[in-house]
Amino acid sequence: METRINLPQSELPKAWYNALPDLPTPLAPPLDPATKQPLTPEALEPIFAKALIEQEMSPERWIPIPEPVLDVYRLYRPTPLVRARRLEAAIGSKCRIYYKNESVSPAGSHKPNTSIPQVYYNKREGVKRLSTETGAGQWGTALSFACSQFDMACTVYMVKVSFEQKPYRKVLINTYGGEIFASPSSQTNTGRAMLAKDPNCKGSLGLAISEAVEDAATHADTNYTLGSVLNHVLLHQSIVGLETEQQLKMIGEKPDYLVGCVGGGSNFGGLVLPFLPRKLGGEDITFVAAEPKACPTLTRGAYRYDYGDMARLTPLMKMHTLGHAFMPAPIHAGGLRYHGDAPIVCNLMAEGLVDARAYYQKECFEAAQLFLKTEGFLPAPETGHAIMSAIDVAKTAKPGSCVVFLYSGHGLLDLGSYDAYLRGELTNFELPQSDIDQALCDCPVIES
Ligand SMILES: Cc1ncc(COP(=O)(O)O)c(C=O)c1O
Repeated sequence: METRINLPQSELPKAWYNALPDLPTPLAPPLDPATKQPLTPEALEPIFAKALIEQEMSPERWIPIPEPVLDVYRLYRPTPLVRARRLEAAIGSKCRIYYKNESVSPAGSHKPNTSIPQVYYNKREGVKRLSTETGAGQWGTALSFACSQFDMACTVYMVKVSFEQKPYRKVLINTYGGEIFASPSSQTNTGRAMLAKDPNCKGSLGLAISEAVEDAATHADTNYTLGSVLNHVLLHQSIVGLETEQQLKMIGEKPDYLVGCVGGGSNFGGLVLPFLPRKLGGEDITFVAAEPKACPTLTRGAYRYDYGDMARLTPLMKMHTLGHAFMPAPIHAGGLRYHGDAPIVCNLMAEGLVDARAYYQKECFEAAQLFLKTEGFLPAPETGHAIMSAIDVAKTAKPGSCVVFLYSGHGLLDLGSYDAYLRGELTNFELPQSDIDQALCDCPVIES
């Protein structure tokens, strides 16, 4: 009747898994926004650490984790894999449901798995300050935590709607020593222009990225960091799937379904990618990606080149996109409101290797509450999508299936969202096709 599968610290993975060499079709290259030609590594150097650019394009399957990174990982890793027996009983499931609990990190989510190495490499290259955007606030918290570990300065642009929904994120980020601005802010040209156009603008991840990139590009001592989407972020997150694989092996389990929520694709990618060689080798493992119906990039977005941000400062990436100008509805899963997705996840989606499903926010809060009442922990609203999806899968899967989902973060700083849910103030949003068509009109047309 064991429910917690703990990996000893001596078994902490010592290398990350890079899926690039194993993708069934090569990844479409990122393009320079000015020339529309494949990007050179040098073009990224003004705002990214060289080591991270190398990882972004690395052909190596395994990349050693530096000892100072392992040292900080040991504050919370390996994380437990837990059998959700009470949840199973509550839904009358004939499947075994496990969750990999990433909420035990200091910042409360999977995000430190990449903020720690990103800060480490930047520090090693002499960078003094890091800028970034944050949606739900989890990534900004994770970056400020990692900066505090390596004694670096940190500036966070937080999407205004989330900033207002979650005032304690600011306090936590400030306590770690980071500074934080609601985006659009008056700190950058991009922010000022948006505020002049719409003083009540609630912001979007695409806009906050523009502000953080502009900040890094206009300050010589500052680099930019991204908490999702990019190849090196998914690489760092692979530690989640690698541990999960070992933990399942310890109890003689083999996963039939691996489930994760998708904002930019980093927690989902981190869980599923280490299982890709097994799936391509013929094992019947279904990768299930859960997203909001209000921001349905994988299920309804177009697979084409688009910018990663609203101000068109980032490289063009081939991904499922709702258009870089897309302004998502103010749903409470702030971390799932991004217009695009990780190119690696989109590549697998295009190959038919990902089963993407979209859910309404209210059903995800219901699933999150059921999890709380059965397993006891309060999930982040983003994680509620993974729980909803795991329940959905477990109800329809063949009896005896093994379903593993990624518990990406806790919701202890999302109580305002739960309050709105309990008061019956949440609305379900489903994106009208005309909004998608409209936003896609602004996407560049690239022959590929
Ligand atoms: C708790 C949590 N889960 C999931 C996500 C989605 O991000 P990603 O798709 O990169 O894992 C976020 C993003 O902020 C988050 O905070």
